[in-house]
Amino acid sequence: MGAGGSKAWEKSGAGGEGEGEEDMQLYVSLNMEWSGDRDRDRDQPLLIPHVYGSLPLVGSWDPSKALALERESTFRWEISFVAPPNHGTLDFKFLLKPKHSGSPCIIEEGINRLLTGGALHGDAQSAFFRLPENNEMLEYLVYIKADKVSPFDLAASWRAYQKILQPSTVRRVPDISIDSIPVTGLEDTDVPLSYSHNAHLSELAEYKSVGTDSSAVRHTSQGGLLVDRGVGSSPKTVQSNAMPEAAGAVAAAAVADRMLGPKEHQQMAIVLVGLPARGKTFTAAKLTRYLRWLGHDTKHFNVGKYRRLKHGLNQTADFFRADNQDGVDARNEVAALAMEDMLSWMLEGGQVGIFDATNSTRKRRNMLMQMAEGKCKIIFLETICNDQAVIEQNICLKIRQSPDYANQPDLAAGMEDFKNRLSHYEKVYEPVEEGSYIKMIDTVSGKGGQMQINNISGYLPGRIVFFLVNTHLTPRPILLTRHGESRDNVRGRIGGDSVLSEAGEEYAMKLADFVNKRLRYEKTACIWTSTLQRTILTAQHIGEFPKIQWRALDEINAGVCDGMTYEEIKKNTPEEYDARKADKLRYRYPRGESYLDVIQRLEPVIIELERQRAPVVVIAHQAVLRALYAYFADKPLKEVPHIEVPLHSMIEIQMEVTGVHEKIYKLVN
Ligand code: F6P
Repeated sequence: MGAGGSKAWEKSGAGGEGEGEEDMQLYVSLNMEWSGDRDRDRDQPLLIPHVYGSLPLVGSWDPSKALALERESTFRWEISFVAPPNHGTLDFKFLLKPKHSGSPCIIEEGINRLLTGGALHGDAQSAFFRLPENNEMLEYLVYIKADKVSPFDLAASWRAYQKILQPSTVRRVPDISIDSIPVTGLEDTDVPLSYSHNAHLSELAEYKSVGTDSSAVRHTSQGGLLVDRGVGSSPKTVQSNAMPEAAGAVAAAAVADRMLGPKEHQQMAIVLVGLPARGKTFTAAKLTRYLRWLGHDTKHFNVGKYRRLKHGLNQTADFFRADNQDGVDARNEVAALAMEDMLSWMLEGGQVGIFDATNSTRKRRNMLMQMAEGKCKIIFLETICNDQAVIEQNICLKIRQSPDYANQPDLAAGMEDFKNRLSHYEKVYEPVEEGSYIKMIDTVSGKGGQMQINNISGYLPGRIVFFLVNTHLTPRPILLTRHGESRDNVRGRIGGDSVLSEAGEEYAMKLADFVNKRLRYEKTACIWTSTLQRTILTAQHIGEFPKIQWRALDEINAGVCDGMTYEEIKKNTPEEYDARKADKLRYRYPRGESYLDVIQRLEPVIIELERQRAPVVVIAHQAVLRALYAYFADKPLKEVPHIEVPLHSMIEIQMEVTGVHEKIYKLVN
């Protein structure tokens, strides 16, 4: 027998006769199909078929304890269970329960159904239900399939099921959940008592049917599967220190790395290398923000901060002389302190440490490599800049912004001291030629330069290189706004693809006015919208700039809840409503998306926003803008679903050499 059997039903057929092995179990699937006119009787599926009686699954003639059949399609439901072949005769009946109202259930007409050896007695191919309000009779077609299966096959299927299906049961379980079911209580020979499955199992044909106690696999109202081992604990998730909090490609890569063994270290240190004023701290901060946003636990360790804490703010250039042994020792000491802190943080679960210092001699780098031996992988990230104008600009910024010069009121004196410091470093500087490294040579302007990569492999290092190739320091604004109010907004309905309300139309005009004024001195700019009407219509009056529709900018997909109000979701599917409330970041709408999914699909948008050198206006949706804004504002992922992004206002992100600055404009009162 195969799980695919649930798709190839024999009407009222019974399998397994004549085999008679005593240790075989009977795997039974009951299926009901609405036989009415599907177009005319659209409302009928709101009556959910249930089963009750002496079946192993239900074991009760109390209608309130009847078990809901799982929906296979709009008109088809099923339930499956395992019984001993010598079960005697099981009797049961179907009943219909209204989905939304509290009105009483409708019990099937006629005598009880009898099941012996997997065969239904009598003419049992239809189930009739009389509607109490008008006496109308509804007919459902009934199918049954029964197969004999050995306990061994059942147990093997169950284990395969756990292994294969569990990682994808993501609606209330983190996307990454390998090893998520503890082995306790699950001996090899464990055979579940009974079994309840749905259409997903048909995809596992080669694993035969799988079984579990009805308490062990819970079906959600929307056809999802929740696995519970039946010992009172919900599925255990892996420690956050082992896996990033992520969906999509990041999750897939993490699981693949984990399963294929330690080809790569779980922990990674990006060790910056470069002379002072080469944009190391800026690059470190940017990379930290990007990796955190993707769900990797990332921390920036700035050795300058350790130095200032230990040796104070006012060290002159002399402190940095290579022939000042006390200075060299002091600097090595603070670097080692920062490295120790980073390694301890990794031991506690940190994933990527960004180690920000000049690390400009081979000796220093050897010290770091020795400390990291067996604890984390080191990738050197060297920033080289030969453009004197860029270096001068960086030095000016340094004097204005670095705490090292906070007590130096004289800009010229500060510049001189810093240039002396720089020359001390230049004398002993040794470019990286060892280990794994990424060299960025003259890339800050975004107008060319060179990138050299040595001994880099793996998913995350690959993403880091890709990110770095695309980032630059050219200042430009990024303008983020939601579409104008839509008709669905007015009705309080989520998702959909409605046009603008009157207020939304008004906003579209105001936005055009604002954008045209704000960008009037720009040579070029680009307007990005989603593929949904409300954003395209909001952009319609913005004149001269090219417009691009991105599917990646479409609103979070609310799946089966699309088009509902929050009140309707709460009323119709309270368990979904509560689950989302409990974990809005990771909750995935049935057949829709979670915020983590949205973040993953927005990654190309972020990379492109980093790469663009002209202003970009992004007209998108609430969830999408929360995710984009969180990237620029470096907000922790858990805050993303709760960030305020009101309608009819504009967030301006100014990408500057000094970092990211933001302004908010309210365009309509
Ligand atoms: O209500 C407008 C809307 O854009 C919906 O289409 C979308 O489902 C929702 O906002 C996202 O916000 P939240 O995640 O808070 O439900």
